Amino acid sequence: MSNYKELVDQHKDRFINELFELLRIPSVSADPKYKEDVLRMAAAVAASLKQAGAENVEVCPTPGYPIVYGEKIVDASLPTVLVYGHYDVQPADPIDLWSSPPFEPVIKDGKIYARGSCDDKGQMFMHVKAFELMMQSGALPCNIKFMIEGEEEVGSSNLDAFLAANRERLKADCVLVSDTSMIANDIPSITTGLRGLSYVEVEVTGPNRDLHSGVYGGGVANPVNVLCEMIASLKDGNKKITIPGFYADVIELGADERRLIAAAPFDEKEYMRELNIGAVEGETGYTTVERTSVRPTLDVNGIWGGYTGEGAKTVLPSKAYAKISMRLVPNQDPDKITELFKTHFESIAPASVKVEVRPHHGGHPAVTPVDSVEYQAAALAMEQTFGKKPVPARGGGSIPIVASFERILGLKTVLMGFGLDTDDIHSPNEHYGVFNFLKGIETIPYFHAHYAALKKRS
Ligand code: BES
Ligand code: MN
Ligand code: MN
Repeated sequence: MSNYKELVDQHKDRFINELFELLRIPSVSADPKYKEDVLRMAAAVAASLKQAGAENVEVCPTPGYPIVYGEKIVDASLPTVLVYGHYDVQPADPIDLWSSPPFEPVIKDGKIYARGSCDDKGQMFMHVKAFELMMQSGALPCNIKFMIEGEEEVGSSNLDAFLAANRERLKADCVLVSDTSMIANDIPSITTGLRGLSYVEVEVTGPNRDLHSGVYGGGVANPVNVLCEMIASLKDGNKKITIPGFYADVIELGADERRLIAAAPFDEKEYMRELNIGAVEGETGYTTVERTSVRPTLDVNGIWGGYTGEGAKTVLPSKAYAKISMRLVPNQDPDKITELFKTHFESIAPASVKVEVRPHHGGHPAVTPVDSVEYQAAALAMEQTFGKKPVPARGGGSIPIVASFERILGLKTVLMGFGLDTDDIHSPNEHYGVFNFLKGIETIPYFHAHYAALKKRS
């Protein structure tokens, strides 16, 4: 088999330059202002797949942004890997906190700074370049299909229908995704589960108009105050979520699983230092790693109302708003949790205000097996290129499509990500290590080789 380390080394400058071209396209799916850019990005992904040697490349329309498909079938009797990634990115806001413009990639201290550098353009593109190298060296060990979507960051709402309508075209033996992180560059890990998501926006209305806070203050409910009290009541003194029935379907981990989680390297002091916080916080009875991976959460993602401009304005606002996310774990159902939230939140509203709860996108949690052929192939590939066996670790983020692959196509996913939790995805100054980008390209061909070999044996 080719020496992929050498091959990557030969082509690395070109690979980075090509990634930079993609990073310059502001494919923000959440903001309609970027519609033309998102579409331009889809076309660029399709072109890169074609250039690398993919066939039947198609920019498939959906009611939202298109899904880019491409494939290389070398032999119908060989196994087929479906590679999934996303070409859309989160908004770059707040822009003034970036030390260089979000869509003008630069390398600083060995890291590529740009929105999407890690999540997920950089990680998705590793698969395109690994594919190109395998094609060039005439060593594609299995069939590969690519499905790269443009609405992951807004909930993949058109994906389930696409999967159902394209069962034949998407037929495969497993799904391979690089859209997660590892523990550290010298502690490779494979993500073995993701949390689900329920996301709601709440609107609290007090008086029918903004009022003078002196003339009316003290006699009328202030919706911002009320919203804060309502939100505060959603957790008790042990940071347990108080919504009735919220934990009903949560699968509690056994002692063995908890021991395994505790065995994975984690330095809490360093975690606090790196975030510049004086203490961690979370549900009583669970460790930080458990709180951020296998336990559900409830967090305010944004809150506003009243006057937030320069200086002081004395006003008692008419309305207050918040965006609230709940990360879910097996076997919580996002629709059921959204309903529980809505019922509870409406029930705790005092008579002095009106409350409206508007659900946004959601997603099912997922666990991926560690005894599968695809997990073993990923573990062997990482061991080969990192010189160390990867650690299995549950992830705290969400990729709702993983549950859909299983439910609609009956496919298991392996989450072989190369990012780091400290890459600041979704935040200002998102970055991705050049080491990680190149290591990913080097590792992926070994995944395909091990997968094909293990499948032949099984
Ligand atoms: N790639 C992330 C998910 C992720 C990041 C998983 C790091 C594990 C480790 C993905 O792009 C993402 O951001 N997903 C959203 C969910 C979606 C429904 C908006 C998330 O987790 O907030
Ligand atoms: Mn992602
Ligand atoms: Mn993301």
